[in-house]
Amino acid sequence: MALFASSTQDIPESPEVPRHIAIIMDGNGRWAKKRFLPRVMGHKRGVETVRDVVKQCVNLGVEYLTLFAFSSENWRRPPDEVKFLMGLFMEALKREVVKLHQNHIRLVLIGDRSRFDPQLLKEIHEAEKLTQHNTRLTLTIAANYGGRWDIHQAVQRMIHARPELVNGFSESDLADYLSMHYAPEPDLFIRTGGEKRISNFLLWQLAYTELYFTDTLWPDFDEHAFSHSLQSYRQRERRFGRTSEQVASNA
Ligand code: IPE
Ligand code: IPE
Ligand code: MG
Repeated sequence: MALFASSTQDIPESPEVPRHIAIIMDGNGRWAKKRFLPRVMGHKRGVETVRDVVKQCVNLGVEYLTLFAFSSENWRRPPDEVKFLMGLFMEALKREVVKLHQNHIRLVLIGDRSRFDPQLLKEIHEAEKLTQHNTRLTLTIAANYGGRWDIHQAVQRMIHARPELVNGFSESDLADYLSMHYAPEPDLFIRTGGEKRISNFLLWQLAYTELYFTDTLWPDFDEHAFSHSLQSYRQRERRFGRTSEQVASNA
């Protein structure tokens, strides 16, 4: 049974403060290039923005924050950059996990783990285990994640676990096997760095999410920029297929 309302099967709540925010953290390379620095310095600075955004989400009472850290297509980057990103991930995990735990934050990783090195896998597993019962904020890191991979793995696991469904299954049968089955669908999606695309992020889950795109590069995405995105979200009317009049009369 699905834990949360589906935006296509039910009409979910539209909270003033998003319950779930999903972010494509883009623009690190360009941030560095503007400063005549190597691209990887942008990634390093980007980690500081992650820390600030997590803090702000905790303060605002956001329940789920999902960050796209590495896509299934990012392996196409130069090997040195991929190696640096993996190293940075490992380093940040080691350094931050105790602080996350002290702040009652649960850490979850979504994505295809089969290509990670064993040491990184071990760190991830330990961090997830340590923080699994925390309830203040669920911080999900999408690493080697792709929306198509997610739907594909969900179908495969579902059919394996419940072979009778091969003759027909519902949306909610499948939803139980998607990577983010433990979270409501995102209320707000943010992409920094100016591109207006989804880049194979949460394809299924973003069905009715409010989309916010900003030119601000991820390392520059400060408190002011973040609150601008929340302000934009508050001005949206979330209709989920209904008319404006119906939304008003329901309110
Ligand atoms: C996003 O920044 C971080 C990752 C994809 C890991 P980019 O590295 O894509 O930065 P730009 O888009 O080149 O500026
Ligand atoms: C998307 O950023 C992935 C992450 C932020 C991790 P990219 O910079 O890789 O996206 P594209 O390839 O330009 O669409
Ligand atoms: Mg990019």
